[in-house]
Parts: sequence; C-alpha cells; structure tokens
Amino acid sequence: MKTSRLFEPLSIGNLHLKNRIAMAPMTRSRAGSARVPNALMAEYYRQRSSAGLLITEATVVSEQGIGWHDTPGIYTEEMVAGWRKVTDTIKPTGAHMFLQLWHCGRASHSDFHDGALPVSASAVQLNGDYIHTPLGKKQYEIPRALTVEEIKATVADYRQAASNAKEAGFSGVEVHGANGYLINQFLDPKTNLRTDQYGGSLENRFRFYKEVVEAVLEVWAPEQVGARISPNGVFNDMGSDDFRETYLYAAKELNTFNLGYLHVMDGLAFGFHGKGEPMTLAEFRPLFQGRIIGNCGYTMAAAEQRLAEDTADMIAFGRPFITNPDLPERFKNNYPLNPAEDMSLWYTSGAKGYTDYLPYAPSASV
Ligand SMILES: Cc1cc2nc3c(=O)[nH]c(=O)nc-3n(C[C@H](O)[C@H](O)[C@H](O)COP(=O)(O)O)c2cc1C
Repeated sequence: MKTSRLFEPLSIGNLHLKNRIAMAPMTRSRAGSARVPNALMAEYYRQRSSAGLLITEATVVSEQGIGWHDTPGIYTEEMVAGWRKVTDTIKPTGAHMFLQLWHCGRASHSDFHDGALPVSASAVQLNGDYIHTPLGKKQYEIPRALTVEEIKATVADYRQAASNAKEAGFSGVEVHGANGYLINQFLDPKTNLRTDQYGGSLENRFRFYKEVVEAVLEVWAPEQVGARISPNGVFNDMGSDDFRETYLYAAKELNTFNLGYLHVMDGLAFGFHGKGEPMTLAEFRPLFQGRIIGNCGYTMAAAEQRLAEDTADMIAFGRPFITNPDLPERFKNNYPLNPAEDMSLWYTSGAKGYTDYLPYAPSASV
C-alpha cells in the first residue's frame, strides 16, 4: 500500500474531508428531460464516494441557463427533492458533496428556449462546429446581450439556486466560472464587448462573477463556497491575450471573500488557447488563502507532486473517475486503472457507461 499525501485528510473551514482527492464536476446527462436528479444518479455518485469531495455535474440555476440535454437543474421543488435523495445517499459515506452552479449563456441554442435566443455578455457567436439541441445538431447562433436589469435577475437566480442547494442537503456549492459558460463569457474580453459597468476594465469584466459570489454568500458561509476557473482553457471557443492578467486579478478578488477553495483547471489535457505560457498553480498559490484544487490530466504521480511542492491542497480527477469508481482505492493499493472511456457514452442515457464500472476485485483478476 502506498503512503501518499493524497490520503491525508483536509479541512475546508469546518468541513473535514477524508482525503485530498476530489471528483471533478462532470456532465453526464442522466437527469432526463425534466432535469430532475434520480436514483441512478444517486448510485453513480455513491459508487464514487471514496473521494473526499464530490463536485456534482454542472447544474443549471434557471431555465435560461440551459444549454445541454438532460442535465439536472436546481430551480424547482422536484429538482431539490431529487438532489436531496442524492445527498441522503452520500451522507453516510463521509464524502462531502458540492453542487456546481451553472448558466450556459451563449453555449446554448434557441431550441432550448422556445425559440428565444440564448443570452451572453455580448452578442458574440461561439465559433464551434455545432451544438446538440432537442431538435438535433444545429449551428450556434448569435446570442443576445443581457441588459443590466437581466443581469441582476440572473444574479438573483444564482442566489435562489444556492439557497435551493442548501435545502437539498449539499455541503457547499461551486460557482462555475470556467469553460466558456456565462461567467467566463463576462470575464473574457473575447466574449465581453460591453461598454457599461460589466465590460471593459478587469474590474468591470469581473463584476458579474463578483455579484454572483456575493449573492451565493448571502446563503452560504464562505468556506462552503468554491469557485472554478479555466485560465488556460480553450473549450467553448475561449481565450484572450490578457488571460494571465485577467485570472490573476480574478484570483486576487475571489480571495477577498475568504472562499473555501479555488478550483483551477491548470492542466492542458483539454487544450490550451496557446497565447503565451500556460498558467500554473504556483502563480495562484500566493494570491489565494483558501484551499487550491488543481485539475486536468492529472495522474496520481503528478497529483502527489503538486501536493509535495505545496502548490495545491487537493487534486480533482475527472475522466479517471468515470471508468474507475473506486479510484482512491486503486491509487492507494496500486491497482491497475481501467482505461478512459471514449466520448460515445459520456452523455447517453441509462446505466451503460455510467454505473456499470465495477470496483477493482483483486481475487477475481488472478
Ligand atoms: C464527460 C465530461 C463532462 C464534464 N462536465 C463538466 C461540468 O459539468 N463542469 C465542469 O466544470 N467541467 C466539466 N468537465 C471537465 C472536468 O471537470 C475536468 O476538468 C476535465 O475532465 C479534466 O480533468 P481530467 O483530465 O481528470 O478528466 C467535464 C469533463 C468530462 C470528461
């Protein structure tokens, strides 16, 4: 059995995590068209509950936030009740579970919104091949820029969603500021061409993120709130020349809220926008006093290295958790890992490719 800092407990405020392994948030589209979490999802998370922290798949805060089929929401009573069943299942395992709050912004389509255009910081179309909508593969559209009044209403949606997450029994929430979704669309000058108080300067581009965090903090204690960023990411057609300045500023500002953690997608496994040197965890460490979670393409060895050099407190694993529900046990015992799955089963329905990966059974394999 390996001794590794990954298996040391970690506290985030008053929360005690049994190890330093997080399951990264992963959309799996098993919530059905009503977007209500169900027993199959509870089982999926239960299977992976040897992680210290389970971060849920991105969960839409409102109907307007939708941009993906069969993903769960947290804005109706049924959704709250569905998530409650999930958290009730996880509680006895000792894992803590954070809900990831999501608004897709322009990474959506009018097919999801009864013909109304998706919204964003500005009317800048996502340059991508196509989007899967309920009516098939479609071209991205030019989104509609939110008015200031609508921005305030969207912030209120986040506040309500955060409150609903509390009612649903989560240990905390993660604000999804990464991967080219709405908050990221405000942060990045590629998608934010506004000339009002939400665009232009770093301070203005960060304002929406700030207001969302402030709204969430009306409901949650700071240490029960995490924030995710993707400084190097290219997903959803993102990335501007001033990314380093933008994300150093964002980290500094997020630090003023005493949040539980900053979740940094530092690895380049999902591509790099290629503008200068990629950002590293070491750049964020001195700026942010809460916990730092690293992610993207980590192996156990790379994770241990980050913990040993003290640039991260915890590492999140995504794809390895899909095919290895018992990933921490496999790391600990040096058991072989199942290979990653191809994309074909990531967003399908039912148990196949979802809950049918078994824990490693040493006796069965000799
Ligand atoms: C199937 C799948 C779904 C994902 N869904 C989300 C999501 O809902 N929210 C999010 O922030 N990141 C999402 N990601 C990104 C992961 O959280 C993670 O950053 C990425 O998989 C890189 O980590 P890994 O190399 O350990 O897989 C997703 C990744 C995959 C593979």
